[in-house]
Parts: sequence; structure tokens; C-alpha cells
Amino acid sequence: MMSERNGDHNVAENGETHRNPTEVKMCQIVLPCHSNHCGELSAGQLLKWMDSTACLSAERHAGCSCVTASVDDIHFEHTIGVGNVVTIIAKVNRAFTSSMEVGISVTCEDLYTDRHWRVCQAFATFVARRTEAGKVQLKQLSPHTQMEQMEYSLAAERRRMRLIHAEIITDLLSSSTAQLGECQEYQDAVPAERTRVESVELVLPPHANHQVSTFGGQIMAWMENVATISASRLCNAHPTLRSIDMFHFRGPSHIGDRLVLKSIVNNAFKHSCVSSCCSMEVGVCAEAYQGGEPQRHINSAFMTFEVLDGDRKPCTLPRIRPEPVDGKRRYQEAIARKKIRLDRKYIISCKQTEVPLSVPWDPSNQMYLSYNNVSALKLMDTRNNWVLTSEKNKVRLYTLEENQTLCFKVEMYVSVSAEQTFHLLSDLRRRKEWDRHYEECEVITQADEDDTIYRIATPSVSKGGKGQDFILLASRRKPCDVRDPYLIALRSVTLPTHPPTEDYNRGEVLCAGFTIWEESSTVTKVTYYNQATPGVLPYISTDIVGLSSSFYSAFSACSDFLEANKDSLSTASQQPISATDMLSLQNEQ
Ligand code: COA
Repeated sequence: MMSERNGDHNVAENGETHRNPTEVKMCQIVLPCHSNHCGELSAGQLLKWMDSTACLSAERHAGCSCVTASVDDIHFEHTIGVGNVVTIIAKVNRAFTSSMEVGISVTCEDLYTDRHWRVCQAFATFVARRTEAGKVQLKQLSPHTQMEQMEYSLAAERRRMRLIHAEIITDLLSSSTAQLGECQEYQDAVPAERTRVESVELVLPPHANHQVSTFGGQIMAWMENVATISASRLCNAHPTLRSIDMFHFRGPSHIGDRLVLKSIVNNAFKHSCVSSCCSMEVGVCAEAYQGGEPQRHINSAFMTFEVLDGDRKPCTLPRIRPEPVDGKRRYQEAIARKKIRLDRKYIISCKQTEVPLSVPWDPSNQMYLSYNNVSALKLMDTRNNWVLTSEKNKVRLYTLEENQTLCFKVEMYVSVSAEQTFHLLSDLRRRKEWDRHYEECEVITQADEDDTIYRIATPSVSKGGKGQDFILLASRRKPCDVRDPYLIALRSVTLPTHPPTEDYNRGEVLCAGFTIWEESSTVTKVTYYNQATPGVLPYISTDIVGLSSSFYSAFSACSDFLEANKDSLSTASQQPISATDMLSLQNEQ
């Protein structure tokens, strides 16, 4: 996100100060009418402000009316008190065909102490309303600063994740709830039906835009309102909203609609460090109808609440007794969703430098690991402070030393089409044809069409010493449009089925891979990236010369390999284990 206070992000490549034309800023002083009975800004009001700021930014880019299609998961880091000033900044990160990703940042300011803090960051998708001529084709956005380039590049990856999100979550819920068994019964548990809330709202002109469609923010605010009542009924206290899972607006609602909002507490959870429950998941659904017509499903969401004590520490919550059949299903699904949320937080929210080298791979975190893998490579690809270290026959080696890590970038051009280059390089089993370090390479599992886990063994560097082996997740992506490269991202993962063995030292790769840019139909720019871990840094940085000659020989061999196979289709047959087989194998361990 571009922040006004973070001046360096506004500097464009040419050194001039740049203000993104789609940027929209809203400042609001929090008044008692915006707050709940505890004097804190209601999350519903904040969601309304966020939605309208983001909608104005989307419409500024689109030049026409837009609707909220979805809002990605939001984690609220702080509450906001009456008298504080809230600043919301929204800007379009990228336009696709008729949809745009809008990045939203929310900060808060205490006017008396001049203290500022971040409240949350969110990504919303807005869609330009169809015209009589059909679907709108939005104009493309040109990123000017390094930060904008990064968000532009990551937006494509986030879009991929949100479009497969519902399907993946459904699959995960059905596979993980099957293993959870029966719900435990507790004597002192609160019956879930006590937390059930149903409320109706009539959509009036102030709730809608100039096109008579209900504001997405208004619907989110109504949903948050009923969810808060459900949460209060479980805890008999004032709950604080901590996070919301993705909102997806399935269909529009208009002035005159009756919106029926229903919520219930699905489950109350323990934190790993304590034995009592201290957070709860509330499920909430919004349906619309007019007159005698059937109700339309507009939105469903899951919100996580806590109750905080005077020191802002979570209080103990009662357990919940689910209703029979559907209630039990929701109770089990809430447990599975919590695991998915924790994995996501662990993998995505960690700063790149804090992510542990090898993250355990599991079908439930595959979507986030794949995102993390690709976005780490995209981040390296958007850096603009690489230093050219050596060049030989148009193979260039760049380095970048930062925060205890040394990154390499090797760049070369080949006379092979980008698609064929991608095809050849993304099958790691063929890498031994040009890279002598890839002595053995086997596919362990083909998680899906784009994610494969390999075991790779490299020879020993010293005579009689042990070789190294790696368990690598390779995530491949075709370009979203002409401004994206083909991409193959690699990172280490751990698998319980493949622990380290005595014969090999287990090596780890933090972030590596290729970006493949189409220069013309026959010329392709191939860039290879590798981020060396702190452990190997002292060995490498003293021998950049040795390093460049070994890179040069490897990449001229790579170029020869690509050119020799420029017209062939990969024939190597893959006999991978499916993700489901992998899950059962892990469960047997
Ligand atoms: N998250 C993000 N984008 C989504 C999405 C989701 N869950 N579902 C669809 N989209 C995007 C598609 O990727 C597509 O983008 P593109 O044109 O850039 O490729 C765009 O929405 C349109 O998709 P399309 O398949 O043409 O239409 P659809 O039938 O899927 O309808 C909406 C999508 C959003 C227009 C439709 O669901 C809708 O009208 N929702 C209600 C929106 C609304 O009124 N919101 C305010 C509150 S009610």
C-alpha cells in the first residue's frame, strides 16, 4: 500500500514525486454516533468507510459505476476510540478485464499525542457495471514506483487465490471434517441456539448508490451488527471483532429489498497456550427478497471475535453446544477453518525474512504456500537495486545484499518461444540435462496443475562427503496478461513422508526460480533468481568471481538445452501421487 507518511514509496523510477491518480483518501473523526457502547468505533462503520473509499478509487479508474465483488480476509490489529481520527487510503493496484483490485489501508491517529498506528489493510475487488454493450473492458494501469510495481505484480497472484478460494475451502472442509470425528459434549456448554440472531433491514435510498444498488459496505455493516449480537450472547460481555474471512457478494441488492440477516456462534476455540476458550467464530448470512419472490443469497461470512479484559488480554469464553445435524457440521467446519486461518496467518502474515526456511506442506496450507512461494519470487523480481556483478556473452550476473541475505539474478536471452521455455524449465526432472547439480530429481506429489513437490539430490562438493538433498515446492504460473512473465517459483517445504536421511545433508532453499518474459515470438528473456540463506553467505560473498564463472557455465548450458529442444514437446511422463493420496499417506504416519 502506498502510505502518505511513507514518502519514499511515492518516488517514481525517474526520481520525481508521484501521486497515484486512483488514490482516494478519507479522514473521519470518530464521533459517539459512530461508536458502540464501549466508546470504540464500530467495525461495521469502519467497513462502510472502507468500502466507499475503495469504490471511489475504483470508479475514478473505471470512469463508470462499480460494485463490490469481494473483500479479502481482514485482520483488525487495533480498536479505535471516540475522538481519534481514522484515515483510509485506497488505490487501484491493478485492473483486469472488468474487475480491479483496490488496496485499502486504515490508520488511526490520536490528535492529542500525535501517535499514529495501523489498524488494518485490505484488498477489495470492484467490478465495473455492465453496460448495454456488455462487459466493460477497463484501461490498464501503469505502475510508476517500485511499490506500485510490486502491488501490481502481487495483485495477479491474489486474484488467482480469491477466484479458487471458495472451491478450495469447500474441498478442504469436506476432507478435514471427515477426520475430526464426533463433537465433544460439555455439561456447562452454552446451547448454540441461544446465540441465534435473525434481523431484517429495509434497503432505503441512503443505503444505496446513485444506481440504486445497495452499498457493499452497508451490507457488511449489517452483517457485523448481527454477528456482534450472537457473539455477545455467548460471552455476556462486549466482544471485539478480530478478523473477517473473505466476503463475496454473490448477487446485487437494490433499494426496496428486504435484507434478512442471520447469525449464530459456530464454535469457541482454545488458544494453543491455554486450556480455556478465548475466541469464537460467528457465521453470518445475508439474503434479500422483494414482495413474494424467493430469497436471494447475497453474502455469507465468518467473523472471529474475542473478549478483551482491561489489559487487552483475551478473556475465557464458555464452550458451545452445537445444534444437532447442521449445527454439528458448522461446529466441525469452524475447527477446519480455524486451522486454515492459522496456516494462512503463519505463512502470509510473516515478513519474508521471518518465514522459517522449510514450512510443513499440507493440503490445507497448499494455497497459501503456493501464494507465498510465487509472491516471494515476484518481490525479488520487482526490486530495482540490483548491482551488475559480471557479464559474459550476454549472460549477466547481478547481486543484491540486504538484511543478512545475498540474492543473485542471472539474466540471459534465448531464441526460443517464452511458452516453450516455460514448458522446458518448469519440469525440474529435465534440469539435470543442463545443471550438473541436479543429480537426481523425482516428483513426490503433483498437488495440482501448477504446484509440484520434488525431491532433488545434488552431488557432494568434497571427495567422499555426503551429497545434499532438497524437498522443493515448485509453483508455476502462466502470465495473467502481457505485462506478466511466466514464472516458476521454488522453495523448501517439509514433508513427514520424506524426513532427512543419513545419506544426505538436507539443504534448504528460501526463494529461487525463473521469470520468463516474451520479448518477441522467438526471443525470450530468462531470469533466474536465488536467495542465499544467511548460513552460506560468508562462503559465497568472498568468491563472487568463482560464482560468476559457475553461473555462466550453467546458464550457457541452459541456453543450449533450450535451443536444442525449442521444437520438442516434453515427453517425460509424470506419475505423481495426488494431493488426496498425500493426505492419507501423512495421516498414516
Ligand atoms: N472475487 C473477485 N472477483 C470476482 C469474484 C470474486 N469472488 N467473482 C467474480 N469476480 C470477477 C471476475 O473475475 C470477473 O473479472 P474480470 O472481468 O476482470 O475477468 C468479474 O468479476 C466479472 O465476472 P463475470 O463472470 O463476468 O460475472 P459474474 O456473473 O461472476 O458476476 C459480479 C460477478 C461481481 C458482477 C456478481 O457476482 C454481482 O453482481 N455481485 C454483486 C455485486 C454487488 O452488487 N455488490 C454490492 C453489494 S450487494
